[in-house]
Amino acid sequence: MCACAAASVFLLRTGSAAAAAVPKVAVSGLLLLHGCHTGPRRVLVTGGSGLVGRAIQHVVQEEERKDGEEWIFLSSKDANLMNKEETQAVFQKHKPTHVIHLAALVGGLFKNMRGNLDFWRHNLCINDNVLQAAHEVDAVKVVSCLSTCIFPDKTTYPIDETMIHNGPPHDSNFGYSYAKRMIDVHNRGYFEQTGRSYTSVIPTNVFGPHDNFNIEDGHVLPGLIHKAYIAQKEGKPLVVWGSGSPRRQFIYSLDLARLILWVLRNYNEVEPIILSVGEEEEVSIKEAAEKVVRALDFKGELVHDTSKSDGQFKKTASNAKLMRYLPNFAFTPFDKALKDTCDWFVANYDNARK
Ligand SMILES: NC(=O)c1ccc[n+]([C@@H]2O[C@H](COP(=O)([O-])OP(=O)(O)OC[C@H]3O[C@@H](n4cnc5c(N)ncnc54)[C@H](OP(=O)(O)O)[C@@H]3O)[C@@H](O)[C@H]2O)c1
Repeated sequence: MCACAAASVFLLRTGSAAAAAVPKVAVSGLLLLHGCHTGPRRVLVTGGSGLVGRAIQHVVQEEERKDGEEWIFLSSKDANLMNKEETQAVFQKHKPTHVIHLAALVGGLFKNMRGNLDFWRHNLCINDNVLQAAHEVDAVKVVSCLSTCIFPDKTTYPIDETMIHNGPPHDSNFGYSYAKRMIDVHNRGYFEQTGRSYTSVIPTNVFGPHDNFNIEDGHVLPGLIHKAYIAQKEGKPLVVWGSGSPRRQFIYSLDLARLILWVLRNYNEVEPIILSVGEEEEVSIKEAAEKVVRALDFKGELVHDTSKSDGQFKKTASNAKLMRYLPNFAFTPFDKALKDTCDWFVANYDNARK
């Protein structure tokens, strides 16, 4: 696939033979009536130009090419999905049989704290438009993206898929969290009223090539990579925001892309599934910063700015459900994925999102 982000629609045709049918299964009381689709698949990816969308493009092109699948990757230039008419028009144009819905207003802790209203309104609006437009063109399956940061703040650990609606999310990102939780409400409603097989995945913190490396607005890992890169150049200390003690599970975008493709093709529940490395892979922000230092061969000092917020202390998620389905899935080791991401950032510094 062409690496040019400016091209707003990426079309990838992978053959015309019929795709394999998805079997009917009954799980947790939800029998999927519309999960079966035997003709060619036209997969529309909203948010196809972002971190996860670019990883899916890479995996579809390099690893998981399948006969009978045509892929269309959208960016915001193709349609503003906050606008109902533009959303309907782009769905009418492509008439997808399947949708991977990634488009969202996304950001790290500090961007969320500044914009809870925006995160709520943008994401609620995008999700309602996309899911209804998919239904109107008769798309048989939609896989949408939630996040482990939407779970209740006060909870028991590890978090699992049954706990999404159990209590208020962390104050720092309540807008994003409630909007994302409503996707699960949409999915249950579409299933009950129309039999649609619309489901969702719950990734932990994602990182990889094509991330948003903006220091103020991005997530913790790309922010650390960018800050370390600048500190190295300027011979200054790397300043880690917060105490460094909060703990996170990180998933490499290419691993997440492989798992989302599996969900699209093989997962037949309406209920969400957590896509995460194991609980034992959780690292503190301090450990993550030390790994960034090693990956970039940063020679300076590492200091903590404890005047900055820590956010939620931890959101340890269980991947037991995923492991029941895919016991042999091999995650890319964190150190290797981090090194590859740092190498990508250095090699693409001029054009990287920052
Ligand atoms: N990154 C993480 O750590 C993380 C963790 C858990 C879950 N998630 C979820 O995973 C999904 C993908 O996240 P990501 O990190 O890949 O995000 P990203 O890199 O910020 O990309 C966001 C994508 O959404 C598109 N978009 C945003 N607003 C839009 C609008 N109004 N109309 C049309 N398109 C719009 C963007 O298009 P442009 O490129 O044209 O702006 C871009 O393709 C999101 O649903 C996110 O909530 C992410």
